[in-house]
Amino acid sequence: MIQSDLDLFGPQPQRLATHTVLLPGFALPPLEALLDALRPVLRAAPFRHMQTPGGQHMAVALSNCGTLGWVSDAQGYRYTLLDPQSGQPWPALPQVLLDLAGKAAQAAGFDGFVPDACLVNHYLPGTRLTLHQDRNERDFSQPIVSISLGLPAVFLLGGLQRSDRPRHVPLSHGDVLVWGGEDRLRFHGVLPIKPGVHPRMGERRINLTLRKAG
Ligand code: SIN
Ligand code: FE2
Repeated sequence: MIQSDLDLFGPQPQRLATHTVLLPGFALPPLEALLDALRPVLRAAPFRHMQTPGGQHMAVALSNCGTLGWVSDAQGYRYTLLDPQSGQPWPALPQVLLDLAGKAAQAAGFDGFVPDACLVNHYLPGTRLTLHQDRNERDFSQPIVSISLGLPAVFLLGGLQRSDRPRHVPLSHGDVLVWGGEDRLRFHGVLPIKPGVHPRMGERRINLTLRKAG
């Protein structure tokens, strides 16, 4: 069987909005290489619950790799060159992740995407992420590439107003969601993760969000 025949039977991209595309299973081929690359990242910059500007602890635990890392503390949300916990630069963005993000962006219609920041989110069952916009980046012409691993989630794809009723988008292990262009500032979030144990990833969901922040 030739490759193009195989592709016909693979999961197809789904356009959810003008510039929002779901790529089912797109991260599965390089999955093991991806997990191998993530291990040293998480050793150098372990998951932690950051403080919100309001003084609470975030339910999602997070880490970063790339030149810039997204942080939250009493002063607000921003990108930093150094991990505030170690005082060291964030671990480098692994090549396998750069390649995957570039290919996913291209498959969604965004050429030449070179991220400099990868936020790594860790969800336990019950953890949710409330509706928000990603707006700490300098250049909103660059898309967001979001990779889902582990337990399934329901992604909330909202509109440009917080009050717009969000669409519920099921995300599975290996799915990649890309949004940009006129959809770049859509509100989005994640419903509480249902209890479960993923055969490869265990009792967790991990989300990798790649952005061009600087
Ligand atoms: C985020 O918006 O930062 C994460 C989204 C997700 O976990 O799917
Ligand atoms: Fe976000």
